[in-house]
Amino acid sequence: MNHNKIAVIDFGGQYAHLIAAKIRRLNVLAEIKQPEDPTETFKEYKGIVFSGSPALSSFGEDSDYNKEIFNLDLPILGLCFGHQEIAKYYGGTVIHGKQEWGRADLHILKKHPLFEGLEEVEQVWMSHFDSVSSLGPEFEELGYTVLDVNSEPHRYAAIGSDKLKRYGFQFHPEVDDSINGHVMLKNFVCGICGCEPSWNVENFLEEKLNQIRTQVGDNSVFLLASGGVDSTVAAVLLGRALGPDRVHLLHIDHGLMRQEESTRVIKAFKELGLGENLHFVDASEEFLDALKGAIQPEEKRRIIGNTFIEIFEREAEKRGFEKFLLGQGTIYPDTIETGGTRRADTIKTHHNRVPLIERMIEEGKVIEPLAELYKVEVRELGEMLGIPEELVWRQPFPGPGLGVRLLCSDGSSELNVEEFESLTAEINRSLKGYNLRGIPLPIKSVGVKADLRSYEHPALIEGDASWDNLLEAAGKIYKEVKGINRCVWNLGPKLSGTVRPLKAEVTRERLDLLRRADQLVMEGLKNHGLLREIWQCPTVFVPLEIDGKGSEFCIIRPVLSRRAMTATAAELPAELIKQLREALLSLPGISGLGYDLTSKPPGTIEWE
Ligand code: XMP
Repeated sequence: MNHNKIAVIDFGGQYAHLIAAKIRRLNVLAEIKQPEDPTETFKEYKGIVFSGSPALSSFGEDSDYNKEIFNLDLPILGLCFGHQEIAKYYGGTVIHGKQEWGRADLHILKKHPLFEGLEEVEQVWMSHFDSVSSLGPEFEELGYTVLDVNSEPHRYAAIGSDKLKRYGFQFHPEVDDSINGHVMLKNFVCGICGCEPSWNVENFLEEKLNQIRTQVGDNSVFLLASGGVDSTVAAVLLGRALGPDRVHLLHIDHGLMRQEESTRVIKAFKELGLGENLHFVDASEEFLDALKGAIQPEEKRRIIGNTFIEIFEREAEKRGFEKFLLGQGTIYPDTIETGGTRRADTIKTHHNRVPLIERMIEEGKVIEPLAELYKVEVRELGEMLGIPEELVWRQPFPGPGLGVRLLCSDGSSELNVEEFESLTAEINRSLKGYNLRGIPLPIKSVGVKADLRSYEHPALIEGDASWDNLLEAAGKIYKEVKGINRCVWNLGPKLSGTVRPLKAEVTRERLDLLRRADQLVMEGLKNHGLLREIWQCPTVFVPLEIDGKGSEFCIIRPVLSRRAMTATAAELPAELIKQLREALLSLPGISGLGYDLTSKPPGTIEWE
């Protein structure tokens, strides 16, 4: 079936994916396109949305993209940066300034199809540095925004030309804080562009089953089955289309899995009817050998990635998989280059490039049945295919597994006495007015700054404070103290002496203990019904001795997030914190327990 489609032009960051995902929720297929794509690309679409951009500015020099798009006889809606580009192209001006951030009231100035069904004032969400300050001759102002009672109205927040079918919003209708943003998008997509809402996951399933059968013909498919959501849904979908006897699965245990994970994965695939051709390799020894002596996070990642590829190639060749098609659980965001964090799927990215797979791609022997879907759609499809809820809604788990959550050290302190003292003084200056005190930890962990990875010290704070005060104090520290990118709340005994790094590598003993700790945390979340609400909760070990005791500082990191690009620390119920404190602190060798309060950015979700 031919669906009406909208093209979303990606000017960077995560905005374009948010817009496309929201439009798909309206049952209209939206696809991401690049600003330099040739004009012909857009002819199959019913309308275009220009996304915002965290990095580009409409102010000053001309932005560089295919301006011929403006010659197309298709409606265009520009958002934020896109809005400014539309205003500028048609003779308006953009100034640097009048920055706004946060919720604002949109005052709608006239009845217009874009605002059909809405009130005169609607809450929207703003985030911009530049502003439109005048309009070209064919445009009119459709609305202005007011941030709060003390601020001046911000003119030209919604603009349009019905003659040209060009529109712009300075605000972001795609974010949830723009309460009726979805209505505005619907008015544009279904009203102004005239799209029929015919696309949904149910139709997708029917169409995909036929496509798979056509592409695979009489052949069989093999795929790597980690047990994560994407590979599980891909495997079941392929099985549904082709029959289980034509789907071969390879599960590699790299030894960095959770407790009993491989057993669970194998059992699940058997229950899903895919046990017939399930191949299992226990490669944990090989991985541990390869990781001997590795301390630095990037080095560990590289070793894990390379070892995985070696084993995968060897096993695939040994089992004669080369004659089959290769199935991959690649999902839509993985297929598109964006300005966002593309490093997330290191192992997957590596897989896509190994010689065996490159050869197969060239020969047209790779099938990626989920490549058009977002995660939430993959989950919906998984439910439709009858995959149990606990598998479909599993929290994400990184490809390199516990390898990224088990920090290593050569035992030397990454802070000298002066640095320790000066950071301690600065941290406590930031904590003034709160009933809290803190120190820097003598190791570094990963974070993000302006889309780049950074390694800085975490701060450890202790004392009594409400959750809101803890978050506020943590935010102050990592904003004000240079060299600190995280803040951890001490749940263990009060600090009385020193915190010292110990020499530690990836070993089976450390992994086994981390597995036990992780298991306790996951069970705790499950018992409190929090597995779905909490996006992810890594349990992390840092080799620190505290006050002369133990060798592993354990940190729990519950976060709320929607797509892992940004995240905030999640508040756990007091009862659960109490249970975890008792259980985790009584594990052998644990020197203390911390609760990570950091948002992303500046922290990342994982430690490393
Ligand atoms: P960070 O730590 O960058 O993680 O905030 C964002 C999301 O990506 C996951 N993650 C990975 N997933 N391979 C994966 O498949 C990886 O190497 C990897 N590293 C991080 C992380 O768990 C979070 O959901």
